[in-house]
Amino acid sequence: MDLKFLKGGSEIIDREEVLKKVKNWVREVGELQLEKLNDNIKVRTKSNKNDLVTEVDELSEKILMDYINQEYPDHSILSEESGIEERDSKYKWIIDPLDGTTNYAHGFSLFAISVALKHKDDTIVGVVYLPSLKKLYYALKGEGAFVGQKRLQVSTTKHLDESLLITDLSYYRDKDPDENINYFNEIIKEVRGVRKTGSAALDLCCIAEGSLDCFWELELKPWDIAAGSLIIEEAGGRVITFSKEAKLIIIAANKILSTTLMQKIKK
Ligand code: IPD
Ligand code: CA
Ligand code: CA
Repeated sequence: MDLKFLKGGSEIIDREEVLKKVKNWVREVGELQLEKLNDNIKVRTKSNKNDLVTEVDELSEKILMDYINQEYPDHSILSEESGIEERDSKYKWIIDPLDGTTNYAHGFSLFAISVALKHKDDTIVGVVYLPSLKKLYYALKGEGAFVGQKRLQVSTTKHLDESLLITDLSYYRDKDPDENINYFNEIIKEVRGVRKTGSAALDLCCIAEGSLDCFWELELKPWDIAAGSLIIEEAGGRVITFSKEAKLIIIAANKILSTTLMQKIKK
């Protein structure tokens, strides 16, 4: 398969060109997010008191969607705040305009913009931008993952007891207060440490660059993980999703650690 040019309906796209555009879009949106951080912005709750959306999430999403609609009017778009705009196309964009909204709403500067493009079932372009750190992670399917010019490689750690892990607690713990805490309590005993940033897209990039060894979380949505998953896979890692007790669990790490943690969680 020629990965550079891919057919989608009557259209052929150049992924390098798509990537260049997405990099510009996320940098522009990142500037806006930094300008408005700590402003007196409007914050609303969604499904419960911990599930927030700000006017900056919505504005960021609008900018990204306007660019996509202008450049690729035939493509479908799935975005966190607007839902799905389904079109008769083999291409689908998956957007999280601001991943780490709770951090953002509190003025804590760890947050990300995540944009992925799928062709049928394959994610072919993934970009995660961290405005505060000015770090732009990206991958094209089959061509490796990078931050700036540097090629990414997941860690080679083989044993959980030498590993630094990362996780988070979802917004749905009002329904199930123990949620991930039960797993946390078990896993913490067997690893070097567990961290939490509040942005799943950022966490996945840390796995891709090998600064953290293993990620797990429950009930993430496609927009949280679409771009980050491609970046991890292109950095030699693996992303596994499976259900346990009606909850969706995601694990990301190198091949050995992802298997070890999956077996532990499945028990
Ligand atoms: C959230 C973050 C967080 C994760 C939540 C996500 P949002 O995304 O990625 O790390 O634990 O499950 O919903 O709402 O800030 O875009
Ligand atoms: Ca998110
Ligand atoms: Ca979001």
